[in-house]
Amino acid sequence: MNQYILEIIYLIASVTFVIGLKMLSGPQTARSGNLWAAFGMTIAIAGTIYLYNSNDPSAVTTREPIKMAFIFGGIAVGTIIGWMTAKRVKMTAMPELVSLFNGMGGACAALISLLEFHHNVGQSERIAVIMAGLIIGSVSFSGSIIAFLKLNGTLSKSLRLPHYNKINTLLMIVTVLAGVYLTASNSDSFGFLILVFALSLLYGVLFVVPIGGADMPVVISLLNSFTGLAAAFGGFLYGNQVMLTGGILVGSAGTLLTVAMCKAMNRPLFNVIFGAFGESAAVATGKSGVTGSIKDISISDTAVLMNYSKKVIIVPGYGLAVAQAQHVIHELEQLLEERGVDVKYAIHPVAGRMPGHMNVLLAESNVDYSKLSEMEEINPEFSNTDVVVVVGANDVVNPAAKTDPSSPIYGMPILDVENSKHIIVNKRSMSAGYAGIDNELFYNPKTSMLFGDAKDVLTKLVAELKTM
Ligand code: TAP
Repeated sequence: MNQYILEIIYLIASVTFVIGLKMLSGPQTARSGNLWAAFGMTIAIAGTIYLYNSNDPSAVTTREPIKMAFIFGGIAVGTIIGWMTAKRVKMTAMPELVSLFNGMGGACAALISLLEFHHNVGQSERIAVIMAGLIIGSVSFSGSIIAFLKLNGTLSKSLRLPHYNKINTLLMIVTVLAGVYLTASNSDSFGFLILVFALSLLYGVLFVVPIGGADMPVVISLLNSFTGLAAAFGGFLYGNQVMLTGGILVGSAGTLLTVAMCKAMNRPLFNVIFGAFGESAAVATGKSGVTGSIKDISISDTAVLMNYSKKVIIVPGYGLAVAQAQHVIHELEQLLEERGVDVKYAIHPVAGRMPGHMNVLLAESNVDYSKLSEMEEINPEFSNTDVVVVVGANDVVNPAAKTDPSSPIYGMPILDVENSKHIIVNKRSMSAGYAGIDNELFYNPKTSMLFGDAKDVLTKLVAELKTM
C-alpha cells in the first residue's frame, strides 16, 4: 500500500516540477513557480523517508531513530545554510551562487555512485549507470567549484596550460576508458573506483580553468545540465521516477539554456565543450583600434532633451545592476510618461551577467512588463526614436559586433541604438565592459556621454525633470 501512495506522491511531485519550470519562464510567475517545485521536492523527500520500502534486507533498519536523526540533521543544516546564503547574496553574485549549488548537486550524484558501486558489482548494466553518474557528477562538482572561484575573483580568469585542449581531450578519453574497464571487467576494485573519481574531478578542473571572460555563465549552464543528467542516472539506478524526472528536466533545461546563450553570444557550443575558446588578441592587449573624440553632456541638458522627446528607449545593462538603480530608473520612466513621452526598455538577451538579469531587476522595481521589449522586436524601432539612454550597458550596444570581424564579439546580435536620433550613454568612465574591448559607439557624433554612477546620475536627472 505504502508503495502505491509513494508512486502517487512521485507523480504529483513530477507534475509540480513541470508546472514550476513552466512558471519560471516569466518574471511575474517565477516566484510562485519556484514554490510549486519546492513543494513537489518536499513531498518527494518526505514520502521517500517515510514510505520507501526497499527489498534490500539491510535497508529494513533504515528508519532507526539514530539514522532518522542523521537524515533530519542533514536536512536542517542544508536548509539553514541554503536559506541564509540565498537571502544574503547580491543579485550581481547570483551566477556564483548558482554555480556553487550546482556543484553540490554534482557531488551528491557522485557520492551515490561511490556508495552503490559495491552493492552492484557483477551487474554490468547497473555499473555502467553508476560509472556515468560518477564521471558526470564529479566533473560537474569540480568544474562548478572552479567556476565559483573564478567568478568571485579567487582564481585568475585565464589560467592555461600549454596544449590544454589536447591534454583535456586526452584526459576525457582516459577517464571514460577507465569507467568502461570497470564496467566490463566486473572488478570490485575500490582503488580503481577512486581512480575514476579522481580523474573525473581533475577533468572538471582542467575543463573550466582555461575558460575566461564572457563565456563563464555558458559553462555554468552546461555544468548544470551535467548535474541534471547525473541525477537522472541516480533515478535510473534506484528506479525512482521523481529523481529521474527532476534530473531529466534539469538536464534538458540546462542544455536548452546553454544553446540559447551560445546563440545570443555567438559562441559555438563545440568550442565551449572542448575549451577551444578564450580571450582574443584584442582583449589580451586591451586595444581595439577605436579612435576619435567623445563629448559629454550635463544632467540639465539631458533632462531638457528627454523632456521634449516623443519617444525614449532605455537600454539597461550590467552597470544598472551594479548601481542598484532599478527603482530610480522606473521613477524616471514614470515621470517621462506623465509628460506624454513614450518610454520603452530594450532588453538584450545577455545584458547583465545571467539569463533574464534585466527582466528580474526591472520586475523588482515593478516596471510594467509590457514596457520591456526583446531585441528583435525593438531593433526596428530605434530609427524612429528621439533619445536612447544606455544605462550601464556596453558590449550589448557595441557596433563592432557587426562591423569588425577581428572583434571577440563579432557576430553577436546587438541592439541597434546607433540608428536613433540622439544617444546618451551613462557609465562611470571609459572602461571596457565584460568582453574587455573598446566601444566605437562612444565616439559616434550622435553620442553624448553622461558620466557617473547610474543611481547617482539618474537621481539627479529625476530631480532636474521635476523642476521643469
Ligand atoms: P558590460 O558590457 O559588462 O558593460 C557594463 C558597463 O557598465 C561597463 O562598461 C561599466 O563601465 C558600466 N558600469 C559599471 N558599474 C556602473 C555603475 N555603477 N554605474 C554606471 N555604469 C556602470 O554589460 P552589458 O552591456 O550588460 O553586457 C553584458 C556582457 O556580459 C556581455 O559581454 C555578455 O556577453 C556578458 N555575459 C552575459 C551573460 C548573461 S547570460 N547575461 C552571461 C555571460 C556573459 P564603467 O566601469 O566605466 O562604469
